[in-house]
Amino acid sequence: MSTTAPVVVHPDGELLARATAARFLLALVDAQSVATPVHVALTGGSILVDTLRAVAADPLRDAVDWTAVHVWWGDERFVPAGHADRNDREAVEALLGDLPLRPEHVHAVPGPDAVADVDAAARAYTEELARHAAPGEAVPELAVVLLGMGPDGHVASLFPGRPSLGDQSLGALAEHDSPKPPPERISLTLPTLCTAHQVWLVVSGEGKAPAVAAALEGTSLPEAVGGTGDGESVPAGRVQARGRTLWLVDLAATSALP
Ligand code: 6PG
Repeated sequence: MSTTAPVVVHPDGELLARATAARFLLALVDAQSVATPVHVALTGGSILVDTLRAVAADPLRDAVDWTAVHVWWGDERFVPAGHADRNDREAVEALLGDLPLRPEHVHAVPGPDAVADVDAAARAYTEELARHAAPGEAVPELAVVLLGMGPDGHVASLFPGRPSLGDQSLGALAEHDSPKPPPERISLTLPTLCTAHQVWLVVSGEGKAPAVAAALEGTSLPEAVGGTGDGESVPAGRVQARGRTLWLVDLAATSALP
């Protein structure tokens, strides 16, 4: 099934990052005018780090009450706190370290320095999400989730053909054998991503163009490029936010669209 999600195209990656940063800041201001606190989720990836740097440089950042923002991770690599491979370390360096966030509102996924294994990390993160959920809910309402996408169409740490893609629970799951290193990761489940008010897929570069086309068409990629070749949608094409799903891309990422 193809998607009807809007696709906003920017000329290049730099403008994509700057425009996404401005959009993100305004979305936070809007969300804060309705309810507080506001929860957001970030993931890793090059364009998202560029976007976080652009948020740091944007004067609009002062319009957000950062003391009432909770930050979660859509996925994290299971390596110790402070490790160069961690998504949260990149985010702290690019932006979070610069903001007046409350430390207890920055929800890092525990690493091997804190818990026994990747399953324990996923369980702990699921419990942490539940602690911040509204009564009767399993996870907090995420106002905006920022997702990068891999060339195989993966989002967060939900990879094509992996059992994790079918996990119907709400919370976090453990991935033991990710095709993208490192193999052990923690990811929000697909249903959790889909409870978000808005999910934005932020994608840059020609290398991602076949996956953008497959996701928008709701189909698979060939096995040779990390897909399943079975006609079932790549993970990115399965994300449907409760409110709005938005593709924010640069021109190069659209080069395989009809
Ligand atoms: C990770 C990410 C992953 C990432 C995409 C895009 O931990 O690896 O969260 O889902 O967002 O792989 O990454 P690039 O933009 O670097 O290709």
